[in-house]
Amino acid sequence: MFKINENYLKLPGSYLFSTIAKKVNEFQAANPDKSVIRLGIGDVTQPLAPAIIDALHGAVDEMGKAETFHGYAPDLGYEFLRTAIAKNDYADRGCDIAADEIFVSDGAKCDSGNIQEIFSVDNKIAVCDPVYPVYVDTNVMAGRTGTYDPKTEMWSDVIYMPCTAENNFAPELPKETPDMIYLCFPNNPTGATITKDQLQVWVDYANKVGAVIIYDAAYEAYISEPDVPHTIFECEGARTCAIELKSFSKNAGFTGTRLGYTVIPKDLKCGDVMLHSLWARRHGTKYNGAPYIQQRAGEAVYSPEGKEQLAKQVAYYMNNAKVIKEGLQEAGYTVSGGVNAPYIWLKTPGSMTSWEFFDYLLANANVVGTPGSGFGPSGEGYFRLTAFGTYENTVAALERIRKM
Ligand code: MLT
Repeated sequence: MFKINENYLKLPGSYLFSTIAKKVNEFQAANPDKSVIRLGIGDVTQPLAPAIIDALHGAVDEMGKAETFHGYAPDLGYEFLRTAIAKNDYADRGCDIAADEIFVSDGAKCDSGNIQEIFSVDNKIAVCDPVYPVYVDTNVMAGRTGTYDPKTEMWSDVIYMPCTAENNFAPELPKETPDMIYLCFPNNPTGATITKDQLQVWVDYANKVGAVIIYDAAYEAYISEPDVPHTIFECEGARTCAIELKSFSKNAGFTGTRLGYTVIPKDLKCGDVMLHSLWARRHGTKYNGAPYIQQRAGEAVYSPEGKEQLAKQVAYYMNNAKVIKEGLQEAGYTVSGGVNAPYIWLKTPGSMTSWEFFDYLLANANVVGTPGSGFGPSGEGYFRLTAFGTYENTVAALERIRKM
């Protein structure tokens, strides 16, 4: 008789954004006349930039001719894309990352979930609280998190690093020593960031205790302040302790197109073993590469036209962030984020829980957001709104919220 991976049974409820989608669909079915504005999941709304569309068309045409047709992509990704990434995202920022330390994939969500596979199940993970749920859930599936306490909503073998208003939503070094540290800056869900000096403290700490930092930089394009690092490899010593995850979803609108990459420096080792080799082995065995068409589209992100068009797209979303932030502040809410990130983190009014506010907002303003408690216990009493809607919907949502 076959047996299942019982770790899956430990997972409480369904994936956060699936739960929200279900609730919203139920509401919409019961209220077909209401126009619901979705500012919940961080999904983009602006069309792909013209430079990317041109690259897609060109690549599609290539696939239609025998001389330029492409089959399986190289394991690590096409050289043209890895070279563009190494130059634009690293060399131009003074960071020492080689093209062959970059693994192209179909998105940072998969990589952030899969990366734990190359680590021992005995490793202890440390996560920010609140946190992007994929980091924790995938470690639960792997059997690395111990038992779940529904009262505290915490796992016995996970080190939680609370990110609260008191510490400016920036985690402090944990008391207990972790083996794997998940950090995401600019942060999802709080929209907070840390400075380069603050990140350097984490890099120094990880090197000292022999931990690895899994650094999710998916929202890097939204950084507007000068002292916020765009990559962990701006920090000295990061090559021996950090893995970086990057996405094309948020900077270039690839949520539906799918493209991302992971950087594993060859200096990152456990004893004599390079983590790079393990991930390369995994990639080669389990993955056949992001499609050629997408990788050509990714290359266009780094073209002069692509850069210019995407800067405008980011500015469009950041204007939404301003509309949300200022609108909420005028309405008397306590708000943070939205300056270096497309997420606005607000305190729920009175003593409302995050889910109570979700229901209240949906029923009274027909606006969807994300309950802070869905990201972890320290998110209770908070709520996330995304700036990735259209400008018109964002303005309309804020008008409705003000009238509540
Ligand atoms: C979010 O809303 O937190 C993100 O869109 C989720 C993701 O990028 O997978």
